[in-house]
Parts: sequence; C-alpha cells; structure tokens
Amino acid sequence: MTSSISFLFVRRVLLALGALCFIGSSQAGDTQPDALLSQYQQAAGQKADRLRGQKFFNATAANDLSCASCHGVSPVLAGKHASTGKTIAPLAPMVNLERFSDSAKVEKWFRRNCKDVLNRECTPLEKADVVAYLKDLK
Ligand code: HEC
Repeated sequence: MTSSISFLFVRRVLLALGALCFIGSSQAGDTQPDALLSQYQQAAGQKADRLRGQKFFNATAANDLSCASCHGVSPVLAGKHASTGKTIAPLAPMVNLERFSDSAKVEKWFRRNCKDVLNRECTPLEKADVVAYLKDLK
C-alpha cells in the first residue's frame, strides 16, 4: 500500500518535470502570434503598425523580390516560391495554425528571407509590423 502511493507520487513528480521541460524548450508550439508581436515590439521600443507591415510585405527590394514574391499578395492563400515554383502553405496564422507558433522556425525564416529580399536581417520593428499585419488576416 505505502509503496504504491509513493510510486504514484514519484510518477506525478516525473510527469510534472516532463511538462516543465516541454514548456521550457523552443520546439514547435512554444509561442503564439500575439506573444511574438509583443516580444518584437518590446525589442523595437515601438508599437507595430499593420498597414506599414502590409506595405513592407509587398515592397520590392534589393533583389527584385518582396515577401509577396513567394508568399503571395494575399497571405491567406498558398504562395509559390519565386525560384523553385514550389507551393508554400499560407503565412496567415488564422488559416494556418502552425504559423508563428514555433519561435526557432520563425527566427530562422525571418533571417533567411529578409537576407534574400533586403540583403540584411529585418529589424525588430519590421518583424513586429509583419506579424501585426499577418496575425488577424482572414
Ligand atoms: C524566395 C522565396 C521567399 C521569399 C522572397 C520570402 N519567403 Fe518567407 N518563406 C519561404 C519559405 C520557403 C519558407 C519555409 C517554408 C514554409 O514554412 O512553408 C518561408 C517561411 C517564412 C516564415 C515562417 C513562418 C512560420 O511560422 O512558419 C516567415 C515568418 C516568413 N517566411 C516571412 C517572410 C518575410 C517577412 C519575407 C519578406 C521579407 C519573406 N518571408 C520572403 C520563402 C520565401
């Protein structure tokens, strides 16, 4: 009797520890569009502007590319990669729940895509604007 109670207790502690590890990791499902938005706003020291985000998204920059070149002018729909022609799932999180839910993935692609489009990384304010633009699109 005593041993089965302590077994249950140990099991509970282990489960709780497992849950903590999961929350602490930066794997899929560690964030949300609103959380990312406030993180970027805080880093920028400014409020995001969704219209500025929309302009940024559609503006053709250094390499004759815009974000819309691959993600489409309407990010609630699937995009098409400008050089490979591969289909890219919609970027708007209201229609694609996986978007802006994994901070490592978001950072990786912001870094790569901003370099492709702007020849530099995006600033925290540009990221905040883009998330503000995309997050409520339906
Ligand atoms: C040359 C094509 C291309 C261009 C241009 C491009 N992207 Fe992407 N983007 C991709 C691909 C490919 C992926 C990864 C595949 C996927 O997630 O569907 C991706 C993924 C992303 C993601 C990951 C989102 C998530 O949570 O899954 C973000 C954010 C993103 N792009 C933002 C941008 C922004 C902002 C710009 C403009 C500065 C931009 N992209 C321009 C091709 C592009």
